[in-house]
Amino acid sequence: MTRADERPGGQRVPPPVRRLPLTGGEATVVDAVDPAEQPTTVLPGGAGDATGAAGASGGGASRFVSAPRRRIGSASIAVDRMQVEELSIAYGSKLAVDSVSLPIRQGEVLALIGPSGCGKTTLLRSLNRLTELTKTASMKGRIVLDGEDIATLEPTALRRRVTMVFQQPNPFPMSVFDNVAYVLREQASRRPRKAALQTAVRSALARAGLLDEVVADLAHPALRLSGGQQQRLCIARALAVDPEVLLLDEPCSALDPQSTQVIEQLIVQLREQVAVVIVTHNLQQAYRIADRVAFMYLGELVEYGPADQIFGAPREQRTREYVSGGFG
Ligand SMILES: Nc1ncnc2c1ncn2[C@@H]1O[C@H](COP(=O)(O)OP(=O)(O)OP(=O)(O)O)[C@@H](O)[C@H]1O
Ligand SMILES: [Mg+2]
Repeated sequence: MTRADERPGGQRVPPPVRRLPLTGGEATVVDAVDPAEQPTTVLPGGAGDATGAAGASGGGASRFVSAPRRRIGSASIAVDRMQVEELSIAYGSKLAVDSVSLPIRQGEVLALIGPSGCGKTTLLRSLNRLTELTKTASMKGRIVLDGEDIATLEPTALRRRVTMVFQQPNPFPMSVFDNVAYVLREQASRRPRKAALQTAVRSALARAGLLDEVVADLAHPALRLSGGQQQRLCIARALAVDPEVLLLDEPCSALDPQSTQVIEQLIVQLREQVAVVIVTHNLQQAYRIADRVAFMYLGELVEYGPADQIFGAPREQRTREYVSGGFG
């Protein structure tokens, strides 16, 4: 496995282009481009590009147009929260994750990318021990959360510290208020007082960037919200228990471009308070919001590093081909 902060081994690879719309918030420009390079291909950008394809012609990452990378806000110093150590997961005799090691840090968004079936969801689900709910699944290696092996933690307690949002928004068939109140009541040792509950529900909705849109009618049925609002409600639910790590499995794949953009901005803001791991097929999205990227292929972690490295100067040939749209 490659290490995050090493420089590419002498070989210069021109960076891919990400032409990014800048919407709201302060923008930091991260220029990962060598001006001496003379690239020629432009990749499409925009939050609406949910195709997952990088969009370059199939000629690999050898020809690109340079463009600055823009990101909303800037993270504070990153702190290690989880450590994945030589993790292997098999379903029966089929290996889905093959000896993967990587850190997960608060202050950073980590994007897991790779073609379908390469083990992204399996890796993500193992972080809060959801994989073990699959009878055929077996695991080797270790996952540590704040110094403790998660295998030694009580699963429900772990799943409050490491919460997950799924691809399809799945609000409970109850009011907006009760969706969030439900998880708060469930985790409380005694029934929370009404006023405390009101405050906590509003706070979670605000953190998920949804409060303004729903505050006039918190009794509104959650299933009648738009898809983007439902997904933010699910994020509010996941945040209500004050987790240390937030896992997102393709959270925008069922959403329209506008909702995608709102959720991307939210994710970037959230990384200050919680370590964020997102699985995405949308390379533009990974480029826009990730600080670190892990590229997986056939269960292996092919390359892990800063987003600028993975998209701008990948060290591995397979990464180069994947981020340039060569396969996947
Ligand atoms: N419950 C299961 N039982 C058996 N095999 C499974 C199970 N879940 C996943 N697999 C297999 O494990 C491998 C990795 O699957 P996983 O869902 O983790 O991939 P992924 O990278 O998330 O794919 P996608 O991008 O399509 O969501 C695949 O070969 C898949 O068929
Ligand atoms: Mg998946």
